[in-house]
Order: sequence, then C-alpha cells, then structure tokens
Amino acid sequence: MKKSIRLDKMLGNLGYGTRSEIKQLVRLGKVTVNGSAVKDPGMKLDPHLDRVALDGEPVAYREEVYVMMHKPAGLVSATEDRRDRTVVDLLPDELGVLSPFPVGRLDKDTEGLLLLTNDGKLAHELLAPRRHVPKTYRALVEGEAGEEDAAAFRAGVALDDGYVTLPAHLRVLHVAKPGEAPADREMAEAIERMRATPALRRDELERAQRDRSPLSWIELTIHEGKYHQVKRMFAAVGKRVLYLRRVAMGPLELDPALGPGEWRELTEAEIEALRNYRKEKRAADGFVG
Ligand code: URA
Repeated sequence: MKKSIRLDKMLGNLGYGTRSEIKQLVRLGKVTVNGSAVKDPGMKLDPHLDRVALDGEPVAYREEVYVMMHKPAGLVSATEDRRDRTVVDLLPDELGVLSPFPVGRLDKDTEGLLLLTNDGKLAHELLAPRRHVPKTYRALVEGEAGEEDAAAFRAGVALDDGYVTLPAHLRVLHVAKPGEAPADREMAEAIERMRATPALRRDELERAQRDRSPLSWIELTIHEGKYHQVKRMFAAVGKRVLYLRRVAMGPLELDPALGPGEWRELTEAEIEALRNYRKEKRAADGFVG
C-alpha cells in the first residue's frame, strides 16, 4: 500500500515548524526531496521512500514514539492539566509534537516506570483489564510486612469498595525495626529521597518514625490497575504505603540509569519485546494477528 503525505504536513508533524514557517523554508530553497530543491510545500511524497533534507541535513521520518520515563513525584500522568505540570512537559518539542501520552496512570506522588507513546493500539492492549499485564512496584510501607500479608495478597484482598483483587505476589525485601537504620541500600535511598523531595510524603515518614513504627521495603506484582490499587491493598491489611515506585510493566523494566525526571526513547529490542508481548497476549486470548 502506497502511503503518501504532504511535505509540509510531514515536516510539521516532525516539529520543523508551522505550515507557514515550512512554506518559508521551501521558498528559501532549503528543502530538497531526492536531491532536488522543492518548489511546492504541498507536494506529496512517500515518507518511507523519498529522501527529504533540510539545509542538506537528512530528515529522519517517523510516526511513532516510545519513551521510557522515570516519573518523578509531583507531576501528573496526563497530557495536560489545569493546575499541575504533566509528565509530557518533561519531553522536548520534537517528541511532544508526535503527541505521546502516558500508558496508564501513576499517582502524583508515585515515581517510577512510565511508558509514553502515541501507539494507541499498543497502549490499549497493555491497559486492557482482560490482558492482566503484570506491574511490579517497590514500596516503603509503614508496619512490618510479612508472610501473612503475602498470603492475603495471594488469595486476594477486599478493597474499600468491596472489590476483591486478583492474586498478587508480595516479596518482603527488608524490615527495619523502630529506630534502626535500614540495611537495604535501595530502601535507605527511598527514605533519603522522601526527606529531600517536597512532593513526597516527608510528614508521613516523620510521623511513622515518631510513632516508632517498623518500616518495610517490599516488592509487589499485580495483574490489574485499579485506582490507587497498591495503596488500597496495603490499607486492606492494615498498613500504609509511604513511598511507591513502579519498576516493571509487562516486559519493560525501569532502566536503573534513569533518575527521577529522566527519560529516554525505548531501544529497538524493547519495542520488539513489547510488540511480541502484545502478540502473545492476544494469541493467549484466542485472537489471530
Ligand atoms: N497503585 C497506587 O496506589 N498508586 C499508583 O500510582 C500505582 C499503583
């Protein structure tokens, strides 16, 4: 199937300017297609075959964008918001112009792995409740988490609205007794981060420490995405989540090289892994193609 697009639309989509700015570039002879200067900014071309250059520099065409972000606390997982900064505000214009959106939501005070893309089909499959895509979180929890909680989460717990959760896998990574410095490096770092980051719940941490509560560093994998699910699951077993970070979603793992607020585009291997994962999920559900 031949797919053609107007030159000015293609350059506009890639963030090279408004239609009239692109018209001006064309008028100045700065744009070539297959080596020849263009006269008509509205000329049709095949963006996959025709070679477009601006000031002699090849223009790399793409339609899709896949970004892995380490969402920081304080930003909302949306494309726009009247009050708060959004995760999309962290991206540069040349990616923003491709209209990526976050695949699912993390709470404003949750950090960690967020996928942003404009691939609606992929996002839909990853979010569809029937696909049960696993999501793994690490959390600092007030209280001593243990085998009883793991058994409750395996069996399913009733949330505050009566919904009973699907089986989830809890691993308790470390418990620090009251007044004890956590021996787990990642847990200690999360506590440090809470102390230093206004958008995190420092007051809650200080209260828990004043109350001489034990603190647990846990990993929880769930296969659904109800509103505030992890916080509500711990509330169901009488514990409070103080800090939450997502570390994996389906086949994607948060790149440890990304600090909060940092992002990078997915590698080809990661995109391939997501596509294969989607295919496997569809096949498991009896879809073809
Ligand atoms: N569960 C929560 O409670 N919050 C999140 O942001 C994600 C999962």
